Amino acid sequence: MRTITLKDVSKTFYDKSRKLTPVLAIKDFNLRIENGEAVVLLGPSGCGKTTLLRLIAGLEQPDSGLILYNDIPLDEIRVEDRGIGMVFQNYVLIPHWESRKTVGFFLRLRDREDEVPAHVQTVAKITGVDIESLMGRFPRHLSGGEKQRVSIARAFARDLELLLFDEPFANLDAKFRAKARVELKRLIQEFNVTLIYVTHDQVEAMSVADRIVVINAGRIIQAGAYAALHDDPDSLFVAEFLGTPTINSFWGRVSNGEWDGSYMGRAPLPRYRPDGAEVIVGLRPEHIRLCDDDSGIPAAVERVTPYYAEKFLLLEVWLRKRRWRIQAPLDAPFEPGYTVYCKLDWSRAFFFDASTGERIR
Ligand SMILES: Nc1ncnc2c1ncn2[C@@H]1O[C@H](COP(=O)(O)OP(=O)(O)O)[C@@H](O)[C@H]1O
Ligand SMILES: [Mg+2]
Repeated sequence: MRTITLKDVSKTFYDKSRKLTPVLAIKDFNLRIENGEAVVLLGPSGCGKTTLLRLIAGLEQPDSGLILYNDIPLDEIRVEDRGIGMVFQNYVLIPHWESRKTVGFFLRLRDREDEVPAHVQTVAKITGVDIESLMGRFPRHLSGGEKQRVSIARAFARDLELLLFDEPFANLDAKFRAKARVELKRLIQEFNVTLIYVTHDQVEAMSVADRIVVINAGRIIQAGAYAALHDDPDSLFVAEFLGTPTINSFWGRVSNGEWDGSYMGRAPLPRYRPDGAEVIVGLRPEHIRLCDDDSGIPAAVERVTPYYAEKFLLLEVWLRKRRWRIQAPLDAPFEPGYTVYCKLDWSRAFFFDASTGERIR
């Protein structure tokens, strides 16, 4: 059983020489993670994901706020009773220990070394290869992907309540990575382990998470299932961060109560905004339709990229000085230099306040 609660957690890094300005890494963070839940912390590089994971692990102290495990403050729980398996972003393996010793450390201290092989098997299942052959090697004789596998094995080889994974599969080959996520998800359900998983990759987030927490500049921007974030973003940041290909955004001004994008046309606003207000419209590439006749908005095709697995063509087109992304059928006959005619499906558009980035609903 493991729930994790963060209450108003903040963390600033101060430069010891006091020459640099302090970095506010985490700001007023509130989150509750239920037992057995798989939560992904998703955000751009430098947004505070690793810091948050280290705070939850007890490796960093918050400046203010509380971190609770099953409603008990973290610092009242002995380190050995915390039940955390952790895979760090920069896997720290002890240089003069062979993998077997690293992986067996926790269980050996408890005279339960005979349990190690079963855990190694588990990890072999996750990462798709035999890792027994790595057990006799020192870190300097392991590749990046192999070190990562040993770190994962170490995380599992203990009494486990909570897994903290920081970009754990970044060094695995793409073909193993997809499989690893699925297997990880299955295992945490099987063993009723809570998972907090850090990544900057939305595809990874989508496949691992029950719930995604989008973070920017040390704060929660929005949390929810992938589909909810993708289809109903609260902010331009989330709309742009999630979705492949990236959403199109168009700047315009309110006039006569409507959004006015000059040559792009006009669109009704979901809520009243005063005339002159600057509003950004977001429209996903799949919500721009191409039409045969010239009743649409003409745009010049610059680049055509096929996405075979997803079965569409990505067209990058120029409309005056703006670049749009449009999804077209895979067999459509477009080439650079063509003119296409576009119809925008305003009913699927999101509207954002241009100064705050907040959604206008
Ligand atoms: N030990 C540290 N000392 C000073 N600044 C730090 C330290 N750790 C992280 N930071 C800063 O805190 C911010 C968040 O970092 P981090 O949590 O590593 O982000 P992420 O994992 O999302 O890329 C960054 O601006 C980073 O430079
Ligand atoms: Mg990081």
